[in-house]
Amino acid sequence: MIKSQGWDWKIVKEDKTSIWKNPSMESFYLLNRWKSQNKECFLDLGCGLGRHSILFGKNGFKVSCLDISEESINRTKTWAEEEKLTFDYKVGDMINLPYSDNSFDAIICMNVISHTDTEGIKKAISEIERVLKRNGECYLTLASKDTWGYKRENWPKVDENTRLLMLEGPEYKVPHFYADYNLIQELFVNFEIIDIHQIVNYYPHEDIVNESYHFHLLIRKR
Ligand SMILES: C[S@@+](CC[C@H](N)C(=O)[O-])C[C@H]1O[C@@H](n2cnc3c(N)ncnc32)[C@H](O)[C@@H]1O
Repeated sequence: MIKSQGWDWKIVKEDKTSIWKNPSMESFYLLNRWKSQNKECFLDLGCGLGRHSILFGKNGFKVSCLDISEESINRTKTWAEEEKLTFDYKVGDMINLPYSDNSFDAIICMNVISHTDTEGIKKAISEIERVLKRNGECYLTLASKDTWGYKRENWPKVDENTRLLMLEGPEYKVPHFYADYNLIQELFVNFEIIDIHQIVNYYPHEDIVNESYHFHLLIRKR
């Protein structure tokens, strides 16, 4: 298994307008869904700067934040304290989660789980299964094989599904696992798959990358 490597958030400036400081559109649906299901214990897995931790914390959830990057956890904590919110914080690796079995009702793992290779993703998925309670739900995204990164023949290949990303920036040389629909069915065979959709994001103002494709999954532990 490739060594885990998080984002280098130190080179990402604080910017209130950035996507990493504003909850994703999907998270508002999930907030509504999980509140109506009386879910309480929430894990922001690979929390980044904490945009989903803050949203769920402000709405009464008991929030745990985990990221492999210490900078990410420090910045999430600073933001939460400004908002007068108290969370549980852990610097840790998604392939070996520092939580007991059956700890969480709900997990968001947005743009995180693809940051490993094929062996690592299997381990991360088994960890999500372990820490979710029965009937607990997880929303996660996976980079798609339709996206530009997978097609970069000159980027180092780690295994048949994984390449190192070679663009300068916070995820330079971070492994990226790319999935397709059949692979997803295999990887999540132990879960009930509630929904899968593939989203294309367009970045009209970027020079190098103009679009990216991700699968979004909502899964439930049986
Ligand atoms: C694209 S950012 C997304 C952050 C956040 N989920 C969000 O949607 O704003 C990916 C995050 O995953 C973290 N990460 C990467 N590999 C990880 C691992 N093995 N274990 C835990 N976190 C990891 C990175 O450090 C980074 O903060």
